[in-house]
Amino acid sequence: MKFNIALLAGDGIGPEVINEAVKVSDAIAKKFNHEINWTPALTGACAIDAVGVPYPDETHEICMAADAVLFGAIGHPKYDNDPKATVRPEQGLLLMRKKLGLFANVRPTFTFPSLIDNSPLKRERIEGTDLIFLRELTGGIYFGEKGRKDDGETAYDTCTYTRVEVQRLAKKGFELAMTRSKKLCCVDKANVLETSRLWRETVQAMEKDYPEVTVSYEFVDAVAMRLVQWPNSYDVLITENLFGDILTDEASVISGSMGLMPSASVGEHTSLYEPIHGSYPQATGLNIANPLATVLSAAMMFEDAFGLKEEAEAIRVVVNKSLEQGIVTEDLAAKGAKAYSTSEVGDWLVANL
Ligand code: IPM
Ligand code: MN
Repeated sequence: MKFNIALLAGDGIGPEVINEAVKVSDAIAKKFNHEINWTPALTGACAIDAVGVPYPDETHEICMAADAVLFGAIGHPKYDNDPKATVRPEQGLLLMRKKLGLFANVRPTFTFPSLIDNSPLKRERIEGTDLIFLRELTGGIYFGEKGRKDDGETAYDTCTYTRVEVQRLAKKGFELAMTRSKKLCCVDKANVLETSRLWRETVQAMEKDYPEVTVSYEFVDAVAMRLVQWPNSYDVLITENLFGDILTDEASVISGSMGLMPSASVGEHTSLYEPIHGSYPQATGLNIANPLATVLSAAMMFEDAFGLKEEAEAIRVVVNKSLEQGIVTEDLAAKGAKAYSTSEVGDWLVANL
């Protein structure tokens, strides 16, 4: 098969981890007789520096025309420390999600047998954890009306959801649950928030279409607690944008390193695959960042965007092998053991595919 992939490396360690994912993807393509045509495009702080906006029209056109988007990370400290900056790298990510209609963010959390003891949580709590968050990505407080009033002394952000927005996300949740253990958890704050009551009512009304799926409704504060107590009691969780943002960072810790978890954003147009970690500015250019979350995002891309299960599995197998053999970057290296560089890990994966 032939694929066109938009390559959005972004900022910070983005280019370094993307580079390794490209190496691994090209190696897989060669092994299985595919052809990948990569089209690089600008987004984030580097796009602001080059053309003044974080998600240029040209980048959007490249994404729309591609079969998938592989994305690194965006963000730069010079904006984080300047709350008055009106153009920010993160706006690029939000605009990209909106314009590509990426309403569902798929964030799995699973454990690697060889890394169980890297997790800050006890082995017996996390063994067997294999859960997936479906985070709504183009609505809620992220995109609601916001502003200042009273001469700037009052600020507001509003959370809005329509039934249709909830339905299309929940539909993906029910469908995913049907392919797994048929357990779905709807995370909300329906004891307080009107939008959460709409979520609950909408999901409840959909239950009859999926009689085999057992749905639980849990408040977000309770889920935050249970997630670190009994992560392996969850399977598929659906939730709104901000709750999902917070809970998926929490969940990523379970696996032992944020450098490991991939994600997919899907919806109306081209799907996007990206590591869940950020741009890690302190490590920029040092060749120390963990490339595995991006490599595993490429695996998700092969499987979900191109329907190539075997190719995806080959990537996961070689990643597991590298972890078992300790071919890992400093975030995962055992005390006293050698920490491999970003590119050394990528080279090893390619050589062992
Ligand atoms: C994420 C990030 C983004 C978000 C930021 C960078 C806008 O934290 O992808 O989770 O909040 O959605
Ligand atoms: Mn986040």
